[in-house]
Amino acid sequence: MEQVELGWNEFWADIFRVKHRRSLQGIQYYDTMVVKFCIEVLGLKKGGDLLDIACGAGDQSVEFALQGVNVTAFDISSRLIEYAKESAVNRNVSVNFYTGDMLKMSFENQFKAAVLLSHSFGFFNHDENKQVLRDTYKALKPKGCLLLDLMNPYNLPKFVKTWTTLEGGILLIEPHLLDAPAGVLRGRPATFIDTANDRIVLMDEDAVSNNDIRMYTALEIRAMLEEAGFKKIDFYGQNKLPRMQYSSDSERMVVIASK
Ligand SMILES: C[S@@+](CC[C@H](N)C(=O)[O-])C[C@H]1O[C@@H](n2cnc3c(N)ncnc32)[C@H](O)[C@@H]1O
Repeated sequence: MEQVELGWNEFWADIFRVKHRRSLQGIQYYDTMVVKFCIEVLGLKKGGDLLDIACGAGDQSVEFALQGVNVTAFDISSRLIEYAKESAVNRNVSVNFYTGDMLKMSFENQFKAAVLLSHSFGFFNHDENKQVLRDTYKALKPKGCLLLDLMNPYNLPKFVKTWTTLEGGILLIEPHLLDAPAGVLRGRPATFIDTANDRIVLMDEDAVSNNDIRMYTALEIRAMLEEAGFKKIDFYGQNKLPRMQYSSDSERMVVIASK
């Protein structure tokens, strides 16, 4: 069988975020619950302006729009944005989707709220991660709120090796590894057995290194948010209703910070 290596845009977008994510049982219901939670804790009203940073294939952006929220959403992967636009058309809603880099945001006083969902925070070095918070702060209107939906560093999911049959092939996912001294959750190379095209698809070096995520504790996140200018900072233990207090054994660490 021929072997090919694909980069972030192709491997991550087509295989992981679209084919794999959309094959997960109950994922649409999960997205609906996350969106309901966000709308309530962020106090979003119909017509309120929301910025969905690193929106992936736009699964939650479209759900927000279906609830009447006015959504601007971007992701670095142009392939994912193509899927997102298609999905908005299919579900008959309008979302302002575009391809963009969260390290290059230049919004000012524009949004009532901003979200980074499914642990889309911590991809860069410490200074760049702080820059994301600073630029999001600038993007918000006075009293606007940011929501970070993060894994709980004290209760990480049990990552296991999985084989999943997807449309056109089989995906092998290797478990993430926590590099404790660095505080980084290291992604591992995944492999797609592309039976439809009789080839093995590997992730190239860039795609593998783009998989690392810095894990911050609540105290560290609070300090970074305060440094960025945020005032009221609350933590919740799950990304669905009812609101649960955050503790070391919570499912998630959800952070809400107000300007
Ligand atoms: C874990 S996924 C989450 C996607 C979506 N928010 C969701 O919950 O399904 C992380 C996303 O971050 C995007 N991403 C990575 N680096 C980025 C950057 N510098 N700017 C914008 N998006 C980025 C990836 O392409 C990917 O879609």
